[in-house]
Amino acid sequence: MPSQDTIALGIDIGGSGIKGAPVDVRTGRLRRERHKIPTPAVSTPVAVAAVVEAIADHFAADLPPDAPIGVTIPAVVQHGVVRTAANIDASWIDVDGQLLLSEALGRRCLLVNDADAAGVGEERFGAAKDEHGFVVVTTLGTGIGVALIHQGVLVPNAELGHLQMHGKDAEKQAAASIKDKQGLSYAQWAERLQAYYTLLESLLWPDLIVVGGGVSRSADKFLPLLRLRTPIVPATLRNTAGIIGAAALAAGYPGTTPYLRSSMTAPASAPTTMTAVSDMTQTDSTIATPIGP
Ligand code: BGC
Repeated sequence: MPSQDTIALGIDIGGSGIKGAPVDVRTGRLRRERHKIPTPAVSTPVAVAAVVEAIADHFAADLPPDAPIGVTIPAVVQHGVVRTAANIDASWIDVDGQLLLSEALGRRCLLVNDADAAGVGEERFGAAKDEHGFVVVTTLGTGIGVALIHQGVLVPNAELGHLQMHGKDAEKQAAASIKDKQGLSYAQWAERLQAYYTLLESLLWPDLIVVGGGVSRSADKFLPLLRLRTPIVPATLRNTAGIIGAAALAAGYPGTTPYLRSSMTAPASAPTTMTAVSDMTQTDSTIATPIGP
């Protein structure tokens, strides 16, 4: 089995399913097929933690004893604490989700915004792996997630899916779920995307925009309709981007965003793991290596 530094478990908490897989963070490849369990109908922290635990148990034999776990959630996560709940149960707000999960799993855990994780996955191993400047990764799904990554360093919790567009929340007009709900054609939806991405590029001036989320599978139906100054490309890791990015961030291989890793939580009841975390924290202060090449 490879050393603990190269393998981490990534788990993606979504609206309909919670999916996970062990990831080789040197290559970004899944080491086993994804395991998926439906998201509990009432997705409270305790109910979700039980599913996350079941996924970790499923892969117990594939994970080195001290392998870290990266978990995504569709919410702002500040130092492990969930701060918003646009598309998850409101009882998550102000819960230290990272602590809850590390106690449930008995392992070092990193809880991260879903778009941030997907962004890191795409930036490091996917559509943006050759772009070393400023990358904006967007996920079009139930909501709109946005990850900002400059020269390999993630600026977390950007929440730009909630920009005001025509005086209203942009994700309520341009998310993929709105296309479905309102029965919009790709051409009609593309008009809304045109307004949204124009707003994004005029505020941020990125070098590259990546479009992820399930609908990116049909990118050829809407991306060619957009007229933007910035190159815009579909994501390539599809529904594994979050799993891969969360695992990479949790493992910190071969370097990661110090802001996120310094707040990683270990379960209080596991002294060996605690030692590993203090070692890691020490390393963190000396490594400022960005996640990009
Ligand atoms: C949430 C973000 C999340 C995005 C995609 C938004 O509604 O506010 O935190 O990243 O949806 O799931």
